[in-house]
Amino acid sequence: MENLKFIVLAIAAAMIVTASCKPRESTDLATTGMILTKTSIIPKPVSVTATGEAFSLNSKTAIFVDAGSDEILRTGQYLADKLNATTGLAISVNEAQAEPGKGSIFLTLSGADQSLGEEGYTLDITRQKVKLTAVNPAGLFRGIQTIRQIALKDTLSAKGLFMIPTGTISDKPEYSYRSMMLDVSRHFFGVEDVKQVIEYLAFYKINTFHMHLSDDQGWRIEIKSWPNLTIHGGSTQVGGGKGGFYTQEQYSDIVKFAADRYITIVPEIDMPGHTNAALSSYPELNCDGKAPDLYTGTTVGFSSLCTRKEITYQFIDDVVREICALTPGPFFHIGGDESNSTKVDDYIYFVNRVQDIVAKYGKRVVGWDEIALSTLKPNSVAQCWANEENAKKAIAQGAKVLMAPAKKTYIDMKYDSTTHIGLHWAAFIEVDDNYNWDPASYIPGVTKDNIIGIEAPLWAETISTLEDIEYLTFPRLPGVAEIGWTPVSLRNWDEYKFRLADHARFFEEMGINYYKSPRVPW
Ligand code: ACM
Repeated sequence: MENLKFIVLAIAAAMIVTASCKPRESTDLATTGMILTKTSIIPKPVSVTATGEAFSLNSKTAIFVDAGSDEILRTGQYLADKLNATTGLAISVNEAQAEPGKGSIFLTLSGADQSLGEEGYTLDITRQKVKLTAVNPAGLFRGIQTIRQIALKDTLSAKGLFMIPTGTISDKPEYSYRSMMLDVSRHFFGVEDVKQVIEYLAFYKINTFHMHLSDDQGWRIEIKSWPNLTIHGGSTQVGGGKGGFYTQEQYSDIVKFAADRYITIVPEIDMPGHTNAALSSYPELNCDGKAPDLYTGTTVGFSSLCTRKEITYQFIDDVVREICALTPGPFFHIGGDESNSTKVDDYIYFVNRVQDIVAKYGKRVVGWDEIALSTLKPNSVAQCWANEENAKKAIAQGAKVLMAPAKKTYIDMKYDSTTHIGLHWAAFIEVDDNYNWDPASYIPGVTKDNIIGIEAPLWAETISTLEDIEYLTFPRLPGVAEIGWTPVSLRNWDEYKFRLADHARFFEEMGINYYKSPRVPW
């Protein structure tokens, strides 16, 4: 016992020395205390109170969860698997019959402060135990990501001892919709790559994964009533490679993998433009009845469904019906961007009809900001990527906006002129440019109440491997996650950049191919 006390104090002292040698001081260091601030939690929690000691994670530690819930047991096991993989320990998971004692990490729904909401949590860490409390299982899952990030490796880690600094964290997200989009149409990414991306999202408390499932270059999800969409329309990709698609079983597997991490899948079928793959698969969807060739280039704006033909709406009804049946989440993304080959009147007529179809299958419409030209349903969401006037039109109709301004959150943009992949039509987006803005003051007249959340879209014209995805996503994704989670008053690049630098150890542990930005003090 005395021994352990000595070790804890020695480590605490070592941390203070380490902390004071590196330029980690910031204004909140003084107010939150030294030890807990030494950890680098992203997204930054709403409230942290450090008490200056440490809980020892070691071979005697055990995880306990509320008895009788398979769901919470699964979250406990997820934490154990992650901690065991990084520490080499063999922490077990148990159902708690009573309040667990010394050496425990306890995940519980009892006694939670209701104001934590859907995803909030509190973490009470003493030298004796760690207690994670939430109103909902989703909150426990968000909270275990914090535990993963504060289990510190130190000199004694080689001997199986890891330190979790003591204190209290009370935390909940600023926005309810925190998302990344992956374009699997321009280049196809298989199920395992997609699951890996979802794992990264979980670590940063992102709760939504938007899959851009169709575009001119490829149709990527099996539709049983229109099989040629994937047989033909999924058979290639940008550059002429072989493409690919998800069977309905594979898509459902992705949905479940995400749901186990409290991440909602938002499927997108982009229309009426960006539809060459569908038009090439079924001649009857074309106004002239002739199917165009498949397309493997990167131009946009040349294709359109035939908005005045009834077969178009039968087609969309079938597609929306089949995908909605596989998608438990509340949203269906109808695209709607860059329909430059559709007359404006036809576009408005089309978007109004498609909104009705989506509503018929019980889902809420999300669409790129152009959909605000139509008559939006009050529960529709306009994804603001380019045109600020469209965002204003959306809120004037009572709709919400999802903030994904291309100049800030398009993570397919190059970091600078030397980045070997990516585009730069919107901007070069260095890591600080990506972090340094606030959704609630970005567009004059669009305030926090109008905003459902934030998304980082990753378009795939220039990327074709998981390594490419990682390079453009990291280290920008953690910044987007923090903007979505942490109140603006707590965000500051000059403090954040040190926490981000510290996350290099997680990137390396997870084998992530990240961009070593010169603006981050790695
Ligand atoms: C878009 O970037 N075309 C939504």
